[in-house]
This record gives sequence, structure tokens and C-alpha cells, in this order.
Amino acid sequence: MQGARPLSACAGTSSCPSASSPSISPGADALPESLRRVQQIVHQPILFQELDITNEAALQELFSKHRFSAVMHFAGLKAVGESVQKPLEYYRVNLTGTIRLLETMKAHGVRNIVFSSSATVYGDPKYLPLDENHPVGGCTNPYGKSKYFIEEMIRDLCKAERDWNAVLLRYFNPIGAHESGMIGEDPQGIPNNLMPYVAQVAVGRREFLSVFGNDYKTDDGTGVRDYIHVVDLAKGHIAALKKLKENCGCKIYNLGTGTGYSVLQMVQAMEKASGREIKYKITGRREGDVASCYANPALAERELGWKAAFGLDKMCEDLWRWQLQNPTGFSKN
Ligand code: UD1
Repeated sequence: MQGARPLSACAGTSSCPSASSPSISPGADALPESLRRVQQIVHQPILFQELDITNEAALQELFSKHRFSAVMHFAGLKAVGESVQKPLEYYRVNLTGTIRLLETMKAHGVRNIVFSSSATVYGDPKYLPLDENHPVGGCTNPYGKSKYFIEEMIRDLCKAERDWNAVLLRYFNPIGAHESGMIGEDPQGIPNNLMPYVAQVAVGRREFLSVFGNDYKTDDGTGVRDYIHVVDLAKGHIAALKKLKENCGCKIYNLGTGTGYSVLQMVQAMEKASGREIKYKITGRREGDVASCYANPALAERELGWKAAFGLDKMCEDLWRWQLQNPTGFSKN
């Protein structure tokens, strides 16, 4: 962060507006229009520089031009299926990129980082709800492993060099949109994740949802997840930045609500929010999916003073407002 005006910089990745990595993720999910709209919402310009996080010279130049007190690190490739097809690309961008970022931070005396990790590091839950002491590393795909490896790297760094502070945030399932309806998720191509798909069925872009299995050991047989409003998630990052100021060393927190909902409960909630029928068909299980996954978010409440405020109805209402106002996403309406 740079004074009161954060500078956002990102890699040629899926989290980057106008991403331009030539060899991967042609359907990068973030677009320049999103940043334009964020500026409208906050009524001020946001400094933005596009760069490739694996490009050391570009990182050095960025850190030479600006003085940062902390870095929030979101840059990375994030498609689970693609990571299985292109493991080296995922390790190159996510791991090499993070190493270069940490080295550059170190060279410029910046020792504070918030990293966007994922509940995927827990693998198949051995118990529920998942707390931060649950064993990690049991991920089956390179995307998940890259999150786990980065966590380990940052932990080792904080152990070796005591002046580093890091907050590793394990996201559960972020959904919803900003309540203005101006910014939201705009997956390019067919959505991989449940709620963007459901929203596209509701708005008439897709005919029906495929429900991946109804033979799990859950109440209605469909997969259960801990969905969290994206605005709550964003506020978790602000709480993490404050934590860094306490010279906290390396800390790890779940960002979830603590409540699990099944696929069919999510369909129902979205039908209520949209007032439209959402057609679905039960199909086979998706490889790598677990039956249930939800957080124990108590540690974040205790140590960050952060707790998710929004429930399922609000998540679906905001998602629906975004989808209705932008039926074809950012770029084409
Ligand atoms: C997925 C990723 C996870 C990643 C997270 C956020 C996989 C296996 N896991 O989590 O690593 O961190 O996204 O990007 O991809 N579902 C359907 N039909 C659909 C889509 C999903 O029934 O068309 C079901 C799934 O089986 C699951 C639930 O909906 O039970 C949620 O799926 P999804 O939104 O993809 O999230 P995760 O699988 O939890």
C-alpha cells in the first residue's frame, strides 16, 4: 500500500485487468472496465500498472518508483482444470512470480504481505468445520499445490527473517458482487464455479445447471460449501492489513462464514433472489470434488476482529443485481 492511495499492480494473470499473458488463460477473467467502474464507485482515481509478476526487472522498477508499506498479493493463475493440463505454467507463474515478488520486496525494505490463499490447501477434510490447525497439503491439483507451496515459502521466510510479517488468508467460496451492481464476476467462457453458472442460467444465458452428483453423504446428497460474500472477503483484507501493523509475524486465517450450504440450497436461494426458475439436471460427480467443506472462522474473529456480516440472501441478491444489470458481463453491454 502506498499512503492513502493503494497502487494496484498485477501479473498477466486471471486476477489482472487487461491481462496479456500470451501462452495461457486466454479467457482471463478480469477486464480493464472493472477498474474503471471501481474508480466510479470510490470517486477517485486508482493508480494502476500492468506488469508480469514473473518479470523481475518490471517489479524492481515498480518498487523503485513507489514506496509501499505492504503488499496484497493476488496475482496468480487459478483454474483448477487448466492447472492439471499445464502444471509447469502454474508453477512458473504462481511460484516463480511469488519468489520474485518476495525478493523484490526484500530488496526494497518492504516486509509486510497479505497473501490470498485458499481452503483448497486443506484437501479432503478429516473433520469439520475446518480450523487453521487442520492438516494441509493434501491437494490433488497443481493450482491447489501452488497455494500450499506459497504458504510454506512465506512461513519459512518469516521464520528465518524475523522482521517479516505475513497474513495468509484461506478463502472459502467467495460469491456475490458489489451491491451497486456495477462490478462482479465475469468469467470468460463457460463458468467453472457454481454461482456464476447459476446466475447465467437465471438470466437466460445458459439452459440448465449440471449438478455434479447427488450421492454425497450430505443432507440432500449434493456438495456442501461455505459461501462468503465477496465484500466480506474484501473487508477481511483490510483487517489483515491492520494486523500487519502489530508486527504479527506469520499468521493464518480462514475467511468463511462457518455455515455450509448444498448445491440445491444455493439453487433455491438464487430462485428466491431472482424470482426465476433455475433448471438443473443431476449429472455425475466432478473429479476432485469433496462432499463438504466449511470453515471454523473463530480465529479471524478473535485475532482480526473480523466476522462475515452478510448471509445467503444478500449474497444472492447482490449477485442477481450484477447479473441483471450486466447480462453479458463487463465488456459487451
Ligand atoms: C473450486 C475449486 C477450488 C477453488 C475454488 C475457487 C475445484 C475442484 N475446486 O472450489 O480449488 O479454490 O473453486 O475458485 O474446481 N457445482 C455443480 N455444478 C457446477 C459447478 C459446481 O454442481 O456447474 C458444485 C460442485 O460440485 C461443488 C459446488 O458446486 O459441490 C461448488 O463448486 P465450485 O463453485 O466450483 O467451488 P469448489 O469446487 O468448492
